[in-house]
Order: sequence, then structure tokens, then C-alpha cells
Amino acid sequence: MTDRFGRIINYLRISVTDRCNLRCYYCMPEGAIRLLPREQIMSFEEIVEVARAAVRIGFNKVRLTGGEPLVRRDIEVLVGMLAEIQGIQDLAMSTNGILLADCADALAAAGLRRVNISLDATDPRRYAEITGGGDVQRVFAGIKAARKAGLVPIKLNCVVTNSSAEPDAISVAQFARQNGLEVRFIHMMDLPSGKFSVVEGGSGGDCPRCNRVRLSSDGMIRPCLFSDIAFGVRKLGAVQALKQAIREKPAAGGPCMHNWMHGIGG
Ligand code: 5AD
Ligand code: SF4
Repeated sequence: MTDRFGRIINYLRISVTDRCNLRCYYCMPEGAIRLLPREQIMSFEEIVEVARAAVRIGFNKVRLTGGEPLVRRDIEVLVGMLAEIQGIQDLAMSTNGILLADCADALAAAGLRRVNISLDATDPRRYAEITGGGDVQRVFAGIKAARKAGLVPIKLNCVVTNSSAEPDAISVAQFARQNGLEVRFIHMMDLPSGKFSVVEGGSGGDCPRCNRVRLSSDGMIRPCLFSDIAFGVRKLGAVQALKQAIREKPAAGGPCMHNWMHGIGG
């Protein structure tokens, strides 16, 4: 489906949970974070229904995000259900990689095509600082397992504070080169102020070329991360929520009231 600015919208990002096993300072800043009550989180059946509806109106690309998608129980079952939908050409996942070593094979077997893995630093101490105690060795193990399972091409997502020339970013770029991986540098965003920029080496943040909408973990279709506009699939039905979201998709993102990256999926 085409929006009112002529953009073809074919990419659905699905946040499967607002939970995460890390606490990256830029994503979950407030200390005590509020989590959704379980009954508000979309069931697999509800998610699949939205994906089916999306394909019917011209979507062909789906990515699972979070929170951290791998903390959602039986996530490979959802992957399998989505993989069965005719018309999804690209089924991918964005993960922090912490749990990937244990489930890469199952995900690939279920029909996942590829993964993007967050890596903001390679130094174990710096990684732990940034992520609130994460173990970078587990991410390295996850990357290896993903490659072995054929979840390729693997892309690294590296959040930078100022530029891709800062030391942590350089370490990630070097790691990527040594391991034959692509890196995308994502400039740190600030939702309330509407501060964001184009992803270096990727496609996010480029409003005139934006092709995506999001399904949040509580069942809202959000046409723009940097907007409060949202349409409930439980209230409107999946097709109507998607169509209205595309119809109302803003020309560009701006300041917003919410600061809920971990429930919408960055
Ligand atoms: N700025 C930029 N990216 C963010 N992410 C979460 N919060 C932010 C933020 N404030 C993105 C990063 C991370 C992914 C899980 O979510 O890309 O790798
Ligand atoms: Fe978790 Fe990703 Fe947020 Fe880090 S950025 S806390 S890994 S959801």
C-alpha cells in the first residue's frame, strides 16, 4: 500500500515483548521501568493475524524485535507460524544476541532467514557498562551460532553517542571486518525531543524513504517511531488498523510524548 506521500509501505516490524534481559542505558533509562501486564501482550495468534493482514495489503518484509525477542517464550513457534505465511519474502529478527547461541539452530529450522545483532562495544567492561551488566562473550557465541545456523547475512547494530569514529564504534567496526559482518551505526535517539538521524549503512531514520510501520507489543500499529499516532488492532481489527496507520503516517518524525522504545521496538 502507498501512503499519501507516495511511499510504498511493505515492511512490518513486530515487537513481540517489552521485556529485555539487558538494560542499555539509552533504551531503558528510568531505572524502574514499567512493564505491560501479560494479558496486554499480543498472543502468537494475534500477531500472526496482523502479519496475514499485512501481507494481504502488500507487505512482504517482517522483522521481529522487542524488548528482546528471544526472551519471549517459544519464540521459534511464532517464527514457524510466520514462516508459513505465503508472501513474506524476508523474515528477520533484531536481537541483542545474549540468548542466541542456544536457539540459533531452532530459529533457522523454524524458518527465520537472518538476524541483526546489537553490539555497541567489544571490550567486555565497556559492553557491561553500556548494557547494564551484559556479557559480551555470549554475544560473540551468539554470532558464531547464527553464522553456523545460516542466519545470514548477519548485520551488527551499533549505537553511537556522537559518531562512528568514537572508540567503541571503531572496535565494533574492526570486529565486523575481521568476521566478515556488516555494521550499521545508529545515532542515539531521543524520543521526547524527536532527535534522530539516518542510520549509517542502514535504512532507518530516513523519513522520505521510510517503508515501515510497527506493531507494538500491546497491539498498536504505529506508523512512525517518532510519533504518538497509534491504531489498536484489538479495537479496529488488523486490516483497518494497518490501513489507517498507513493513511496517517506522518511525512517525518518529530517530538513525541512516549518514550517506549523497548515496547515499540527501536
Ligand atoms: N537510540 C538509538 N537506538 C536505540 N535502540 C534502543 N534505544 C535506542 C536509542 N535511544 C535500538 C538500538 C538497539 C536496538 C535494540 O534498539 O538499535 O540496538
Ligand atoms: Fe534490551 Fe535492546 Fe533496549 Fe538494550 S537496547 S535494553 S538490548 S531492548
